[in-house]
Amino acid sequence: MLTLSEVRTIAGTLAVRGTARLLAEAGDLVCAIESPRYQENPYPLYERIRAKGPIYKAPSGAYALTSHAHCSSALREPKLGVRTTTGKLIGESTNALADTFVSLDQPDHGRLRKVAAPAFRPKLMRQMRDGIEATTHRLLDRLGTEFDLMRDFAAPLPIAVISDLLGIPPADRTRFAHYGQVVGRAFDGLGNSAQLRVYKAAVADLQELFTRLMAERRTDPGDDVISLLVTAETDEKITADELIATCRLLLIAGFETTVNLIGNAVVLFDQHPEQWELLREQPDLAPGAVEEVLRFESPLPLIYRHPHEPFEIGGHTIPVNRGVVFITAAANRDPEVFPDPHRFDITRPEAVEHLAFGGGAHYCLGAPLSRLEGDVAFRALAERLPGIRVTAPPVRRKSIVIRGFLSVPVAV
Ligand code: HEM
Repeated sequence: MLTLSEVRTIAGTLAVRGTARLLAEAGDLVCAIESPRYQENPYPLYERIRAKGPIYKAPSGAYALTSHAHCSSALREPKLGVRTTTGKLIGESTNALADTFVSLDQPDHGRLRKVAAPAFRPKLMRQMRDGIEATTHRLLDRLGTEFDLMRDFAAPLPIAVISDLLGIPPADRTRFAHYGQVVGRAFDGLGNSAQLRVYKAAVADLQELFTRLMAERRTDPGDDVISLLVTAETDEKITADELIATCRLLLIAGFETTVNLIGNAVVLFDQHPEQWELLREQPDLAPGAVEEVLRFESPLPLIYRHPHEPFEIGGHTIPVNRGVVFITAAANRDPEVFPDPHRFDITRPEAVEHLAFGGGAHYCLGAPLSRLEGDVAFRALAERLPGIRVTAPPVRRKSIVIRGFLSVPVAV
């Protein structure tokens, strides 16, 4: 019997991509998650999996969790690792985050997370608000009456915020944004050798940029995250390579997700004009709207884990190293927690219970920052572009890991 990890690892080669497809066609609903057929609207598939029970064991041997209660308790379970007990990670060869702490288990995960965590303290986040507002309004000032929301607003905002956080000098920002985009797109899969070359070149250039900035901050520290990490390096809590990997993690995690929070929101509001009307009339609903967008269209719909010991849950015992997919996007529509779960409602009081930021040891470190960015962006859009509307079908990103759009043509 194949584990999910094996299915996905081998699915990287053409021969077994066919096997995963065959398994999907034979009724393996975990393999079906990867099928392009469900990319536009995966929710009916998630409901089919939910209908099999809260813990679904696929014919391939992989397990999928759809209930909020099981996802939330299992995410907090220390027995479940990101890697297998032999250190294997799903899709490792094209995962730009493979050497970063989101892809590591204890003890390295805890040690490295502790070093980066002070950068996201609530007080620091509050101090960032003015800067984020200024960036948001500067971007909005530049827009014409018709533009691509993703290219001209949703992407530049988080890139600018993460550049400020890391202290990227103005002269390096354009290429920093370019590397972030190239490396982040690798999540969608690297289809050919030309894409792999561009990706490797971007990773190497990013490495060079971070190495230079670290050297500068060692002699001339500032109040940015690279300076904070360099201090930890001097205290020997983090090596130079780990430091560079952490910067890469913050760049990609901070950018690839928040861009889709904003893009998904504009498309959802376009589909639900009464909700947009509500936000326009009451911009103070923005924080609740951020939670509801995260619940309804989670930018990261799936989380993968492997038990390091036999793991008992919901009457099943999941064997060591077996692939477990947390379909958090399904948990976020669990009727036990969210009444009428397929209704988009920015006043929903329980929206904040969503699992879009994961849970447990790997709970999203940047959650306060992306909530802040979302709040500022949604308010500014409602106040300054009340007539915004989608003018042509948005182009969806071809990815199972990231849910969002490549382009959203809009007019204001
Ligand atoms: C809408 C925006 C965001 C969403 C939906 C999101 C979602 C997530 C999720 C689901 C995880 C857990 C992954 C796992 O358990 O395997 C995670 C981890 C992480 N996120 Fe976010 N994220 C967002 C924004 C950000 C931002 C803005 C930053 C930083 C600038 C960030 C930094 C991180 C880091 C460092 C981790 C790793 C935490 C760990 O492994 O301990 N994220 N994020």
